[in-house]
Order: sequence, then structure tokens, then C-alpha cells
Amino acid sequence: MVKLKTLVLVGLASAISAGVTVFISSKTAEARKPFAPEDLKLMDEELMQLVKKGDELWHSPKLGKNGLTCANCHPDGANANPHTFPKFQDNVGKVATLREMINWCIERPLEGKALPEDSEDMKALEAYAIYMYRGYPLKPGDNTREYPPVKVKSGPGYP
Ligand code: HEC
Repeated sequence: MVKLKTLVLVGLASAISAGVTVFISSKTAEARKPFAPEDLKLMDEELMQLVKKGDELWHSPKLGKNGLTCANCHPDGANANPHTFPKFQDNVGKVATLREMINWCIERPLEGKALPEDSEDMKALEAYAIYMYRGYPLKPGDNTREYPPVKVKSGPGYP
């Protein structure tokens, strides 16, 4: 009797899993076609427009009130380490996202007003930072690594 019950249960379980498999594979069969090269080109252009806007903002004092720009301390995005986020950020006192850290730098070093985290300007800064780090490997332990100071010819740079 017990054996029979077990058999019935096993049978039921495999029927369910077979059903799920059929469901998943039918979903897979409905997947969209690969993008055409023209579509991919358009997508890339959209992203690059945002990266360009981020580049301008990164080099603009308008995010703050003391004339500083992100590039004064992070030339070419240096030491922004966007690929290591989210991570525990001592000055924020918690695991922070890249956007929270960008706002930290807008409010503290730049003495500006934090951007809404879903704003186009915030997305652009994020896009620029990540673009500048393309090809960087993310290694285990990068989230707690102490990065050396950035040396900038024109000023003090990253302290
Ligand atoms: C006066 C120098 C200065 C300016 C200007 C500045 N930052 Fe920073 N930034 C810092 C310092 C210092 C830290 C490190 C804070 C820490 O983790 O203790 C930092 C950290 C960061 C990090 C995190 C890096 C990491 O590995 O944890 C990001 C991202 C960042 N800044 C983005 C920006 C952006 C975007 C701007 C412009 C809106 C900006 N910063 C402007 C000094 C600056």
C-alpha cells in the first residue's frame, strides 16, 4: 500500500515536471527572432547617446555648487569602479548601489543636490562610468578592495 502511494506520488511528480518542461519549452519555442544587425546598431546608438550625455555631465560643474566636476577626482571615470557595485560602502553605512554612491559624491564633494535615482541624468552618469570600465574583469574580493589614489596632473585628484 505504502509502495503504491509512493508510486502514485512519483508518477504525479514526474507528470508535473513533464508538464512544466513542456510549458517551458513551448515558451522557448515562442522566443523572438534574433535581432537584425540594423536593430543592434540602433540599440547601440541609443546607448551611446546616453554615454555621451554622461560624459558631458561628468565634466560639468552644474551637478554641484563649488565648481568641481566628477572628472576632477575621477578623470576618465578613474576609481569610480562601477563594476564592483552594489557593495558595502563605509561612508554610506550600508550596501550601496552605484547610483547611491554617485549621489553621495554629488552631495559631498560637489556640494550639490542628489539626483532622483531614476532620472535620465543619473542613468547617463551610470552609463558613462560603466562604459569607461568596459572590459574590466570583476574578480572575487573586488567589492572590498582598497583602490589606490588617482594621480591627476592638474590638481589634487582623488584623495
Ligand atoms: C573632490 C573629489 C571628488 C569628486 C569631485 C567626486 N568624487 Fe567620487 N569619490 C571621491 C572619494 C574620496 C570617494 C571614495 C569614498 C569612499 O569610499 O571612502 C569617491 C567614490 C566614488 C565612487 C565609488 C568608488 C568605489 O570604488 O567605491 C563613485 C562611483 C564616484 N565616486 C562617482 C563620482 C561621481 C559620479 C562624481 C561627480 C558627480 C564624483 N564621484 C565626484 C571623491 C570625489
